[in-house]
Amino acid sequence: MPRPDDLHITPRKPEFELLKSMQKQRYWLANDPVLTHFFNALQATFPEGERFFIDSAREVRDSLGEENLPEHLADDIKAFIHQEAWHGKAHDEWNQVLIDLGYTRMEEFDAQQKRLRRWANENISPMMRLAVTAGAEHMTASLARMMLEKRRDLIDEAAEPVRSLLAWHALEEIEHKSVCFDLYQAAGGGYRQRVLGLVFAFLDTLRLARSRHKYLLQQDGLWNWRTRVQAYRKVWGPRGIVGQMIPELLRYLKPGFHPWQTDERAAFEARWQTLISDLSNKAA
Ligand SMILES: [Fe+2]
Ligand SMILES: [Fe+2]
Repeated sequence: MPRPDDLHITPRKPEFELLKSMQKQRYWLANDPVLTHFFNALQATFPEGERFFIDSAREVRDSLGEENLPEHLADDIKAFIHQEAWHGKAHDEWNQVLIDLGYTRMEEFDAQQKRLRRWANENISPMMRLAVTAGAEHMTASLARMMLEKRRDLIDEAAEPVRSLLAWHALEEIEHKSVCFDLYQAAGGGYRQRVLGLVFAFLDTLRLARSRHKYLLQQDGLWNWRTRVQAYRKVWGPRGIVGQMIPELLRYLKPGFHPWQTDERAAFEARWQTLISDLSNKAA
């Protein structure tokens, strides 16, 4: 499946001032602690995850040699690295805001994930790590697509500047969704390892997000049977956020799958054009 000719992977580098708005509205997503803390928890896995993606893409690219890559891929990898590095920075700042708001264990979770990344870099082959990365990239693109097609409220009902941050990150995940997949294919990666990569990325991300989600709710004195049922219904269950991503995730299992069999860019931009075209003005 060809990469679209008009694809521009654009590193935008916006700045967001999250502390004040989160101090003002702690439950920034529709005043809902369960949903808000799910996104707080999920995004907290991003900085280390994104560094893991960058490490694995760089390593495989360098071992292949840029001159041996298909057309556009070397430039796309550079743009992907710039985008992910800036995502990592924005989500590091978000984590710091959570720590400043009193969720001090977020620092410990992050340190654990750093150790895990170092361990993985030393003990897991670059191709397996790239398979996990390609799987994780399919997850982030699936999340973006699900928010666009099924749950627009997850962006529309977020308070600024988180709303702009989410729209920006989701659009860039769509733009670079095939980069690691294409690199994996160019490096001769096979079907079974690719699928294993998605399964691992899915289970590991959910494990990391779930422990943080529980902690954040516990910190607010909200970890009780009622919020646990809500968490299942709104997030983890078949009709929850994760459940609603499943059909899209399953497309990855098709042997002939390619990320650009669907193109969400135009619909995404049409929906959230104002948020993503003027990011610099949203900074303050
Ligand atoms: Fe990202
Ligand atoms: Fe990504």
